[in-house]
Amino acid sequence: MAPPVLRVGLIGNGTVGAAFASALDANHERLSQRLGVRVRLVQIAVRTPDRHRDVLPGVRVHDDAESLANDGGIDVVVEASGDLAASQWLRRVIARGAAAVSANKLAIASDRALLDALARRHPLLHCEGAVAAALPIVRALRDSLDGEEIHDLRGVLNGTTTFILTQLERGACFDDAVAAAQEAGYAESDTSTDLSGRDAAAKLAILATLAWRRPVTLDEVATRGIDGNIVDVVRVACDHGSRVRLVAEAWEEDGLQLRVAPKILDAADPLARAEDVINVVAVQSALAGPLTWYGAGAGGTRTASALLGDVLAASRALVGTHTGRIAA
Ligand SMILES: NC(=O)c1ccc[n+]([C@@H]2O[C@H](COP(=O)([O-])OP(=O)(O)OC[C@H]3O[C@@H](n4cnc5c(N)ncnc54)[C@H](OP(=O)(O)O)[C@@H]3O)[C@@H](O)[C@H]2O)c1
Repeated sequence: MAPPVLRVGLIGNGTVGAAFASALDANHERLSQRLGVRVRLVQIAVRTPDRHRDVLPGVRVHDDAESLANDGGIDVVVEASGDLAASQWLRRVIARGAAAVSANKLAIASDRALLDALARRHPLLHCEGAVAAALPIVRALRDSLDGEEIHDLRGVLNGTTTFILTQLERGACFDDAVAAAQEAGYAESDTSTDLSGRDAAAKLAILATLAWRRPVTLDEVATRGIDGNIVDVVRVACDHGSRVRLVAEAWEEDGLQLRVAPKILDAADPLARAEDVINVVAVQSALAGPLTWYGAGAGGTRTASALLGDVLAASRALVGTHTGRIAA
């Protein structure tokens, strides 16, 4: 008998969404074998469907993300639109008992209900791709370190600012470094979310929510970004063998403290290893001691890896609801 089918709907078919669709297509047989059910992409919602008509045969492309989220025929909704309205779609998906997978840090970190679901480890909400692409930091905090007491968490979480700071270290001026980040496809034409520190603050809010098990919103993070004034600080730091990075950190001190700001890092600091679009996350916990994650924190294929893992986790939660028993 053919195994049942899990139907996937995708919102957004840009850098991340398209990489996910093609990774799902390429790995479809293997994933289906691992899950014991077939996984099939059935719908894609975008803003301008005409530009995406030739995606994959048999996949319906339209411009109504809300109807996709509400569609009872879709079991797993993967959201990679970047639209702030996505928080409503994700809530709706979970409320109707389907699974939601999102790479959209800003939508999640602005929505208390979604953060609350994350803090409670809701089995139908997954967002590994929202923080540091494929670095498995979301799942590590959510599952592996779930029994732990986290003392502090620090990260270089924004690839665009790290790329710019790396260019400044190599002698570029600020405007040229920003232009190089845009040319390399790391920075959007509107760089404000990255440069202001808001992108890193959203990622920190998600990680702190998981680490301290209570909803931490983006607005709770004291945030300062970088601008042209950072150039002199970078040069002085370089002269002393140090580095400047936009550091996101959360720690306990008279309550939970949350901050994103440029910091001068000693060369021996694990965060100082972040170069170009490499992200680094360091966690200090009661039993495990210091732990560090290091790797590419941006890019369509990297993020698609995280989304595939999330689709499997979400699908297992759905399938397990029906077939979760094991023989004695
Ligand atoms: N790029 C990365 O390296 C990276 C890494 C990790 C996480 N993320 C996150 O992943 C998300 C997507 O990023 P991206 O770089 O893939 O963006 P992108 O290339 O700009 O693609 C966005 C896609 O979403 C669609 N879209 C936007 N608003 C929509 C709406 N209201 N309804 C339906 N579709 C909508 C767009 O449709 P059209 O094509 O028709 O305009 C486009 O296909 C963002 O939340 C981002 O923060 C990105």
